[in-house]
Amino acid sequence: MNLFNRFIVMTMPLVPRFIVKKISQRYIAGTSLDAAVEKIKELNRNNIKATVDLLGEDITSREQARQNVEQYLKTLDRIHEEKLDASISLKLTAFGLKQDFDFCMENVKQVLQRAKQYDNFVRIDMEDASCTDDTIEIYFKLYEQFHNVGTVFQSYLRRTIGDIENIFSKIDRPNFRLVKGIYDEPYEIAYKDKQIIRDNFAYLMRKMLSRGAYVGIATHDEQLIWHGLRLVDELKLSTDSYEFQMLLGVTEKLRDLLVEEGHTMRLYVPYGEQWYEYSVRRLKENPKVAGYIIKNLFFPR
Ligand code: FDA
Repeated sequence: MNLFNRFIVMTMPLVPRFIVKKISQRYIAGTSLDAAVEKIKELNRNNIKATVDLLGEDITSREQARQNVEQYLKTLDRIHEEKLDASISLKLTAFGLKQDFDFCMENVKQVLQRAKQYDNFVRIDMEDASCTDDTIEIYFKLYEQFHNVGTVFQSYLRRTIGDIENIFSKIDRPNFRLVKGIYDEPYEIAYKDKQIIRDNFAYLMRKMLSRGAYVGIATHDEQLIWHGLRLVDELKLSTDSYEFQMLLGVTEKLRDLLVEEGHTMRLYVPYGEQWYEYSVRRLKENPKVAGYIIKNLFFPR
């Protein structure tokens, strides 16, 4: 962690809540579903799709998991009623993964059932490495019953190349989101070298796209976006094979350029009451983000 990031993380508890709110407003749609709906409408008007995330993965009881299920069902209803171009992203820990595996799976099933009814899609986010095995297992189990589901793979994990092979051996045309990975993992399981993480991203992306998967290329890293564009050209891919994905409020100029060039773009749109906990946790998990936030405030691109 460099000195600047360390300083920001250390001083976080001293920063007044309204300032954290101000900063997080750029990255979070708001506290309510209404606010998320308004944000998605605005994005849709600009030809950008959304994937909606309810903040609140840090739960301690089954009751909280049930509340999250209810809120996701409401979110799917609103997406359908308002004819929004949006899917959803969820975290298994928000559905009770740390409480009970089967309970968690039953909770996700309810959401998948509703999404299927609306012909919508559910992305299972990939959390820290303590969740990777369970996430892949739940994904496989759910896929037996539902095809409107996909998960996420992280290029910083040493295991990911093998995991992708495993998916291709079981599922014909999987739907992946590919990311670098946000959690602070130990060296034994995750690459630390930025260039290796990048090279692995490019390698995995090629593997996924050339073997017929649908890929959400989720990055703001222009080098990787270039690799993606190169693959689209080389493999003569049409827009039903890939999309670009970014976080709300990040590298907006690059995002708009891709949209103007006719590529599908989907933004990750988080909302919920737990915006403060979410912002602080994300900064602590990966202090690098603190640097980005400050940099983007002063030098937006
Ligand atoms: P990199 O970190 O090198 O960033 C490139 C540039 O983008 C930076 O120089 C900076 O300018 C800007 N930038 C990136 N992130 C920023 C931020 N938060 N705020 C401001 N500027 C920022 N991870 C995970 O482990 N599991 C998951 O399920 C997901 N899901 C997910 C969905 C979507 C749609 C996206 C875009 C990302 C994720 N991630 C994720 C996060 C991902 O792993 C990764 O941490 C971030 O995308 C940042 O990595 P980049 O590839 O953008 O490169």
